Amino acid sequence: MPETPFIIIAIDGGAASGKSSTARALSERFNLLHADTGSYYRAVTSELLRQGASPGRTETVKDALSGLRLGTRIQGRSAQIEVSGRVPGDEIRSREVNEAVSHFAALPELRASLLAYQRGQAQAARDGGFAGLVMEGRDIGSVIFPDADFRFFLQADPAERERRRVRQGQQDQVAERDRLDSSRKASPLARPENAVAIDTTALTIQEVVDRISALVAPRLAPR
Ligand code: DC
Repeated sequence: MPETPFIIIAIDGGAASGKSSTARALSERFNLLHADTGSYYRAVTSELLRQGASPGRTETVKDALSGLRLGTRIQGRSAQIEVSGRVPGDEIRSREVNEAVSHFAALPELRASLLAYQRGQAQAARDGGFAGLVMEGRDIGSVIFPDADFRFFLQADPAERERRRVRQGQQDQVAERDRLDSSRKASPLARPENAVAIDTTALTIQEVVDRISALVAPRLAPR
């Protein structure tokens, strides 16, 4: 039997740059497990807010993090985070979480608590019989999987990104979150060396997916 390789695709980029739709479509096309790490940071932020933690008082964050139990539920091809036994719902896209998430995500303590969890999704993908993992975020190609088989960096014009969020019915300050995410000391949002940059401003999701697929498909052919 020819052996089919297991691949890891890292997709990084700013808020509303097209990462999630692209990663989801790739996961369907190539039978990959999809991990949206922005939703992981959002889920933890939502729980920390619920517990009254504040990013300005690190001891409250450390306290709340020490009691957190993280798990994974695989739904279709999506690896969803469980916080203390529950997959969080729409609250992770609320205005409160949109406003707080970049502040919490800047804390090294919080990033450290998610590091091993995120790397562990590769094993979850193998155990689940997937052909690989497609993980999206801000530091996937630089910190989480610097040796990923493929690394992409999606960019788009800020005005277009604001319009995308409005079309999704969300109130989000994408430029402000990008400013915070790019200027933090711990694992800032930046284009990893050697990542393939794609400007999605004038492209449809299908066009972005086709470009990435053209590079990935030859690697997934049975050897
Ligand atoms: O992808 P998103 O917009 O849902 O991400 C929400 C926030 O989570 C983002 O503003 C910064 C943080 N984040 C991060 O710091 N590192 C990641 N790998 C993913 C998200």
